[in-house]
Amino acid sequence: MSFAWAKQYEPQTAFTKWMDEKLPLPRLVYSAVGAGYPVPRNLNYMWNFGVLAGFFLVLQIVTGVVLAMHYASNTEVAFGQVEHIMRNVNYGWMMRYAHANGASFFFIVIYLHIFRGFYYSSYKAPREMIWLLGVVIFLLMMATAFMGYVLPWGQMSFWGAKVITGLFGAIPVVGEPLQVWLVGGFAPGNSALNRFFSLHFLLPFVIAGVVILHIWALHIPGSSNPTGVEVKKESDTIPFHPYYTAKDGFGLGVILILFTFMLFFLPNMLGHPDNYVEANPLSTPALIVPEWYFYPFYAILRAFTGDLTIPFTDIILVPAKLLGVIAMFASILVWFFLPWLDKSPVRSGHYRPMFKKFFWFGLIPCMAALFYLGGAKPEEPFIVLSQIATAYYFLHFLVILPIVSQIEIPKPLPFSITEAVLGKDEGGAGAATAATDMSAGDAPDASPQPAE
Ligand code: HEM
Repeated sequence: MSFAWAKQYEPQTAFTKWMDEKLPLPRLVYSAVGAGYPVPRNLNYMWNFGVLAGFFLVLQIVTGVVLAMHYASNTEVAFGQVEHIMRNVNYGWMMRYAHANGASFFFIVIYLHIFRGFYYSSYKAPREMIWLLGVVIFLLMMATAFMGYVLPWGQMSFWGAKVITGLFGAIPVVGEPLQVWLVGGFAPGNSALNRFFSLHFLLPFVIAGVVILHIWALHIPGSSNPTGVEVKKESDTIPFHPYYTAKDGFGLGVILILFTFMLFFLPNMLGHPDNYVEANPLSTPALIVPEWYFYPFYAILRAFTGDLTIPFTDIILVPAKLLGVIAMFASILVWFFLPWLDKSPVRSGHYRPMFKKFFWFGLIPCMAALFYLGGAKPEEPFIVLSQIATAYYFLHFLVILPIVSQIEIPKPLPFSITEAVLGKDEGGAGAATAATDMSAGDAPDASPQPAE
């Protein structure tokens, strides 16, 4: 599905004509990521991160498959096998560092991709499905990364797994039997390592499947853009190829420079030194922390230090640990409801003055604080700061965003993308277009739909 003016694929050679009849894959590529896919002409570099995420997913799969050829998921040998990969296997060190740092870069680009979505309200109609599938991808990524970190069977692998699998024990009644069943014992051991390896191998392919659905859902309305005003006519768009293949290629070049710098000069910067010590169930590290990309959610988990009791009694309604677990999951699940929590008729943060202030001076500092606090020691003042940041986090999405989206007066919107880019639009009503224009033709739920 595409806009009516999308160029049609025309096979040139005998081979491509034959292919087009038998399996029209070149036609699919042409209209999905080629010259036959019209895209808003004003996309900025924040629209690069989807493609970059795709690149890192492929990199993780390729390096992961090579690592799996030399790894053994047995607690007796796993740690040694990883050292064997690092020292004996040709370029094994490079594969391992590329995989470990690739995971970090994957999360960096995904966080930027998600925060682009927050700022430009990419989650709004008609793109709710793209967003919902994105949140599913994020949850799958977290599960995959968590299980991957257990595989080298270092100290942080073991103790991280113990803390996180222990969270299931907080579920009332069924928690403990469930935890023992999931882990295959009372603490992570051989069964856990084996099943984590199996799932860590499988899940990236599940992610790849959901990414295909994500891109499919994207191709129905097409990309949004920094103005948030929908495409109205041909001059609002340019073909994906060569314009955005070039722009994405440039972004890829920049990130590859940063990535290879990390890979070759600072390969352990984002890792934890304790993971170079083999797992020892009898020696607990002084501070158990997950990988940096889990910090905000770990900070939320640890922010709950007191049980919820019936007032003026000692009767516990919900223990602190369960409160933390619920809040941690809720902090991501709340994203599922964003398309309906944010009721503004305007998408882009550029035209939403109040929303923009809360984004830059509320959500961003709050996330930065949670990132820091998740890796800090569980002591004061970090505990109270985590509690404040956690409270703001939920307040932002559940209270501030719904209220702001209803009371704020948006700035006037350009009539079209062309007008926003060129300052005039012969085909449009010119600059005399107030934000109310959105509610007529451009409201998220009344957007002009592309032709099939
Ligand atoms: C493996 C992970 C992912 C891949 C490969 C991926 C890929 C893409 C690509 C290629 C695009 C189009 C280009 C762009 O807008 O950057 C896109 C758009 C989008 N993605 Fe993702 N994505 C992933 C994860 C996510 C996640 C975790 C979310 C949100 C929680 C998300 C939400 C969106 C949204 C809302 C759009 C439409 C943006 C717009 O047009 O304004 N994606 N994605």
